[in-house]
Amino acid sequence: MNTKIYQLNQIDEAAAAIQRGELVAFPTETVYGLGADATNEPAVKNVYLAKGRPSDNPLIVHVNSVAMVEKYAAEIPANARKLMAAFWPGSLTIILKIKKGALSKTVTGGLSTVAFRFPDNQPTLDLIGKAGVPIVGPSANTSGKPSPTTAQHVYHDLNGKITGILDDGPTRVGVESTVLDMSTATPVILRPGAVTKQDIEGVIGSIDLNHHKVGKNETPKAPGMKYKHYAPSAQVYIVDEGTDWAKVAKWVAQQPFDVGVMAEERILQQLTLPMNAVQFSLGTGVEDASARLFDGLRGFDDQPNVKAIVTEAFTAKNLGRAYMNRLNKSAGGVHFDPAQVK
Ligand code: TXA
Ligand code: MG
Repeated sequence: MNTKIYQLNQIDEAAAAIQRGELVAFPTETVYGLGADATNEPAVKNVYLAKGRPSDNPLIVHVNSVAMVEKYAAEIPANARKLMAAFWPGSLTIILKIKKGALSKTVTGGLSTVAFRFPDNQPTLDLIGKAGVPIVGPSANTSGKPSPTTAQHVYHDLNGKITGILDDGPTRVGVESTVLDMSTATPVILRPGAVTKQDIEGVIGSIDLNHHKVGKNETPKAPGMKYKHYAPSAQVYIVDEGTDWAKVAKWVAQQPFDVGVMAEERILQQLTLPMNAVQFSLGTGVEDASARLFDGLRGFDDQPNVKAIVTEAFTAKNLGRAYMNRLNKSAGGVHFDPAQVK
């Protein structure tokens, strides 16, 4: 099978493929998703196979209306309705209790809850509308790799494994949606994203920020958070705020291989880098950096001589919290240590 790239005037064709139970990757404002009809169990199973995703890791169900949520959720609490009104379409995924038997175990990973998301991308909302069913969508990358922010990234990982990719150019936000569990008494953020704790608290009052605290042997709230994630082949080093980048450059020069250097434009412009440095600009500010992070990390996978990547850190608040969550995982928590540079 050769994976087809659907242009925006071919949404009918993409929707027909979804209706036939085939896999079609779709754009969102965050990252590209790997789509299948959420009500078609064999199709959903194929999503796990194509990604190489562990079967206990549930999928997000993408909808184009609150009415569609009502078909599958046991109930929508008043606060969840308020959040939907405030942030949908947008980068907030809301977990609710499932209506018994409404969706297969394959979608929910056997949990009694489902994650719902109303993406801020018109072609994909049209795709859901034309297919007439909710569409499951994990990020459309091979499991463990950084999420795809272009149709080309998806093609790189999944060509031959899926029917097509609906191409809407590069995504705007670049990090995946905020995942908020509203199935419990106190809502909990399971994954930080562009919709921040403050944004949410502005609508429903105080919530718990409990993401990425899952240990190896605990039962995770968001099963996906326990797996190795966002990891390029090269080791990533987090360059903390306030680090002297001249030291970074010196360290790069001492390495026997090429080193990827991911930093804001203003840093790259001032820095004298050695020949074995391969630059990637994160632009200006944390919004640019979030939009570009996965593209940069993925790009270095195509350069086998790059065996290390140093990447600029940002303050972990607001969108910076989501950026640092992804960067930490891609680095496995490893930081650049200026003290080791002689
Ligand atoms: O921005 C996004 O959310 C993208 C785009 C394509 O919409 N999707 C995405 O899906 O990032 P995925 O599958 O890569 O990440 C979904 C996360 C996983 O960590 C998963 O474990 C968690 O959400 N999740 C899904 N359903 C859940 C549930 N019922 N309870 C707890 N966690 C859930
Ligand atoms: Mg993912």
